[in-house]
Amino acid sequence: MSDSIILGIESSCDDTSAAIIKGNCILSNIAANQAIHKEYGGVVPELASRAHQQNIIPVVEKSLTKANIQQNAISAIGFTRGPGLLGSLLVGTSFAKSLAMSLNVPLIEVNHLQAHILAHFIADANPMPPQFPFLCLTVSGGHTMIVLVRDYFDMEIIGKTIDDAAGEAFDKIGKIFDLDYPAGPIIDRLAKEGNPDVFTFNKPRMENYDYSFSGIKTSVLYFIQKEVKKNPDFIKENLNDLCASVQRTIIEILMTKLEKAAKELNIKEVAIAGGVSANSALRKVMEDNHEKLGWNIYIPKFEYTTDNAAMIAMVAQLKFERGEFTDLRTSATAKYDL
Ligand code: KG4
Ligand code: ZN
Repeated sequence: MSDSIILGIESSCDDTSAAIIKGNCILSNIAANQAIHKEYGGVVPELASRAHQQNIIPVVEKSLTKANIQQNAISAIGFTRGPGLLGSLLVGTSFAKSLAMSLNVPLIEVNHLQAHILAHFIADANPMPPQFPFLCLTVSGGHTMIVLVRDYFDMEIIGKTIDDAAGEAFDKIGKIFDLDYPAGPIIDRLAKEGNPDVFTFNKPRMENYDYSFSGIKTSVLYFIQKEVKKNPDFIKENLNDLCASVQRTIIEILMTKLEKAAKELNIKEVAIAGGVSANSALRKVMEDNHEKLGWNIYIPKFEYTTDNAAMIAMVAQLKFERGEFTDLRTSATAKYDL
């Protein structure tokens, strides 16, 4: 891989992030989270765009300072073109276009979902990068899918959710428990002190490798409504066990299909990616499957799981080597297939 220096910019949802990559080594990876959404229990698109607008310049400046890089050392600019919230994407896209134009360097569009998967090729993401072909369970707040990765840019979705994403299930169930947004990391933490076998919730019966997470959410909601009528303190008194039981159920749903796909396609290279891959119990089950099923597992370093610009810079570097540049007349797109 060449050792070109590339700036990556990510603004698809509620994190404004900028990273500098040299070859496949990350020199800086800066993110500004948007605390404002906590008050609303979810991301408010209009507020997200405004916060990106305020954060983007300081975040990019910080990424350059931390990497000790001057603007004129940058060979190209990579940015998230989609999928995501259109207003949020527009801020990163417009900024990337303007900077590429003023520095007179190529502009490179990046698909956010490809980036979650290709984050595995960042030098310090794993002790070893995955070998093609591999399976990647891509689980975030907006997406849940099993991807067959034949090559860097040859990916096929072999299964996906027909309704909610796994991260969305964590967040919506967290709301039922009156937890802050995003609830995924909070449930992960509370589950550590709980017993995962205390409560049982519905699991879907889906065809092939597809997922569904709306059933577990409804099952938790009805169960909680019934119990709270009998004991108003039910959630408080059982919070750790509730979180552990919900987490176990979501992970069982995710892993059953991933194991089925790995077995039927006879693939032992298995990766996880996306925000939910930060989940400690999911990481543990992957490690168990390394022992139990002989999988070579790829679990990205924590900072490359939730939305970050390092993964955007990584994809931009791969495209830069291929000479795949984007016309400056491009625009952001909320929907963007793999
Ligand atoms: O990839 P990401 O940062 O943004 C999207 O592209 O959606 O994923 C965010 C999602 C949220 O739903 C959040 O609750 C979930 O990832 N998440 C977790 C954990 N950390 C983040 N879910 C479970 N356990 C975690 N430790
Ligand atoms: Zn994401």
